[in-house]
Amino acid sequence: MSYYNNILETIGNTPLVKLNKVVSQVPALVLAKIETFNPGNSIKDRMAVKMIDDAEVAGKLKPGGTIIECTSGNTGMGLALVACVRGYKCIFTTSDKQSKEKIDLLKALGAEVIVCPTNVEPTDPRSYYSVAEKLSKEINNSFWCNQYDNLSNSQAHYESTGPEIWQQTEGKITHLIVGVGTGGTISGTARFLKEKNPNIKIWGIDTYGSVFKKYHETGIFDEKEIYPYITEGIGEDILPKNVDFSIIDLFEKVSDKDAALAARRLAREEGILLGYSAGSALAGLIQLSGKLTKDDVVVLIFHDHGSRYIGKIYNDDWMRERGFLDSEIKVKDLISAKKDKAFYYVQSVEKIRNVLKIMKERDISQLPVLENENIIGTVSENSILSFILENPLDNADKEVKLIMSDPMPKVSMDLPLSLLNKCFSEKIPGVITKDQNDHYHVLTKYDVIRAL
Ligand SMILES: Cc1ncc(COP(=O)(O)O)c(C=O)c1O
Repeated sequence: MSYYNNILETIGNTPLVKLNKVVSQVPALVLAKIETFNPGNSIKDRMAVKMIDDAEVAGKLKPGGTIIECTSGNTGMGLALVACVRGYKCIFTTSDKQSKEKIDLLKALGAEVIVCPTNVEPTDPRSYYSVAEKLSKEINNSFWCNQYDNLSNSQAHYESTGPEIWQQTEGKITHLIVGVGTGGTISGTARFLKEKNPNIKIWGIDTYGSVFKKYHETGIFDEKEIYPYITEGIGEDILPKNVDFSIIDLFEKVSDKDAALAARRLAREEGILLGYSAGSALAGLIQLSGKLTKDDVVVLIFHDHGSRYIGKIYNDDWMRERGFLDSEIKVKDLISAKKDKAFYYVQSVEKIRNVLKIMKERDISQLPVLENENIIGTVSENSILSFILENPLDNADKEVKLIMSDPMPKVSMDLPLSLLNKCFSEKIPGVITKDQNDHYHVLTKYDVIRAL
């Protein structure tokens, strides 16, 4: 029989997967370490077990005790798994910008979650750091993990993530690209890899609104760099002890918008549904691709799973509200730009003579043909004129259904312009769409050009 003794034993040994379409512009071989295969769906399972192992050995956490941590969700998930298996209680403090999905997941595993305000100083008594520290002083037999300064965090990656990447790439890795939050992942993994080959380049991905890049480049902790941002999991307003700045070769900042769009590309073009910081890592790689050659082997670490962001970066309304999809014009935008929104049509039994008259009066060159409520065809000015020329005598009193062509294709109001363009052809000069009030609209090539 082949089985694990408990869920914690399944942590690690995650796959390395080649990226294809999303890196078509990048000259190097790009491999992604997909950490969502861990049982808590993130890389943080690795350090959660290590922090608790070390606390038990040091006698800081005894049976029946309480694990306390400030966590954006993923570390909490890993700690909650350990707590379930080993019989501890869990209290997590988190910030109010974290997705509801992440918080609900922690509760599903029996943890208590306290949500604290994001936009306060770390030293403010309401911040999620301060609340965790206070609870750890008040509750007996409790252990505050403090993933920012607890070096068991980076050690976990030195012992597992680094060796796995070295072995999976057969020592051929030339660049490691990692989003930096507590710094545990990048520092521990990089320490192992640089011990094996000091030439490996370590690139940290940072956000706008975080202190890391400037501090790394100038040694200045600049409070002016700190402002709210939307990306989750990376960037900081403090300098955690787990960030080993000396081992990181450069930091690259990625915007909230570029990270979100890159995560969506990973889902749609590679079939890998990942979290926000995976988008940051991919966008950072693309920004830095000019520094790479065809002989390079780049490893990106993807920290967590996209299911935790379904209501955010994978939700079009959420993206649009933040202006992240502003360049995407949709059918509904083109319809609202039309001056005359009436739906003109003819019944299939209408005389050709009358149809031509309607077209002339309304200055329309094609009309949908209906049989009762159903759209069964299209009639165009061209087809009427050709018919009359070919049958000059007995013609205009015939029914229009005689000369109609196929109905115009129906499209969704949410279809982007880029795809709408593909619907048009010489034979298909227009499309039909239905709005939320069940009203039909015709959109022709000419309408589109006029709206643009
Ligand atoms: C989604 C996500 N990405 C990236 C990171 C950064 O990892 P680290 O804290 O090891 O620097 C975290 C850490 O919480 C995370 O949750």
